[in-house]
Amino acid sequence: MGNQVKASEQSMLDEVLDGLQKSPKQLPAKYFYDERGSELFEQITYLDEYYPTRTERLILQQNINEIADVVGPGAMLIELGSGSSSKTRFLLEKLPSLAAYVPVDISEEYLLKVVNQLRMEYPKISIIPVFADYTSSFELPNMSGSYQKQVVFFPGSTIGNFRPPMAQSFLDMLASVTDDQSGMLIGVDLKKDKAVLENAYNDEQGLTAQFNKNMLVRLNREFDANFDVDRFDHRAFYNEQKGRIEMHLVSREQQTVTVAGEEIDFEEGESIHTENSYKYSLDEFQELVSDWYSVEKIWTDDKNYFSLQYLTKK
Ligand code: AVJ
Repeated sequence: MGNQVKASEQSMLDEVLDGLQKSPKQLPAKYFYDERGSELFEQITYLDEYYPTRTERLILQQNINEIADVVGPGAMLIELGSGSSSKTRFLLEKLPSLAAYVPVDISEEYLLKVVNQLRMEYPKISIIPVFADYTSSFELPNMSGSYQKQVVFFPGSTIGNFRPPMAQSFLDMLASVTDDQSGMLIGVDLKKDKAVLENAYNDEQGLTAQFNKNMLVRLNREFDANFDVDRFDHRAFYNEQKGRIEMHLVSREQQTVTVAGEEIDFEEGESIHTENSYKYSLDEFQELVSDWYSVEKIWTDDKNYFSLQYLTKK
């Protein structure tokens, strides 16, 4: 166990240094989610400007019976990046006969808290947490024969964090760790008016800016870095050509920062690219998944801001 933790810390440091030594500089978005980052993201989901979570929740609520039917009885429900599992509760309410709920999350401390809470709320459902970075291959609990089918729940449009080729290698990996005839219930944020998109990542309260800068706070704490967060600006915009929101941290001035003993130089105005959030049309998304999955069902809201889709393995 001790070695495992060390190995994951080492690979995080490798990825961080590698990204900061690139030009342009980048940091992997998955590292936003330490305990504070998970908390900040949770707060973002309540913002007026941040439509995705609220809209997805509405879609889930309004179609819950149909969705529960599609998942079916006796399923093994595997949630990727479960976070606070807040949307899952709607499903758990309607699926008392689940064989197991398997939340998979990289943030171990947060996942344990949530699992303890869920076990009290749903004493009849077997909850089997998996601590893993689900972007690389991970192992599912071995429960052969004791469930009807596996359904991966991947809400929140987190798939949008991957560049399309990465999304496809992720789908390939997912298809290889799940059974034939498994399903996937996935949230996909849709293309829409640029102002609506940009507002969602530039909230009035500055929570998204704090979330973005928390990455640096985390590096200071975990890798003995010395980022002065006040010398970086939050920047988020829609890159229309690439169909994605980009988040950056922009250096206000020329400066040198040390991370785990390595010096990193910044020009004035130089940015660290911290996140992509791809937005898809329904056709683009179907095309993206088509080597591995068929789109069986799509639910949307009345503004067509967001979609929840049920895919089955080909
Ligand atoms: C959790 C990746 C879906 O891209 O909208 C929210 C993360 N970043 N505000 C998104 C996020 C800035 C979010 N995802």
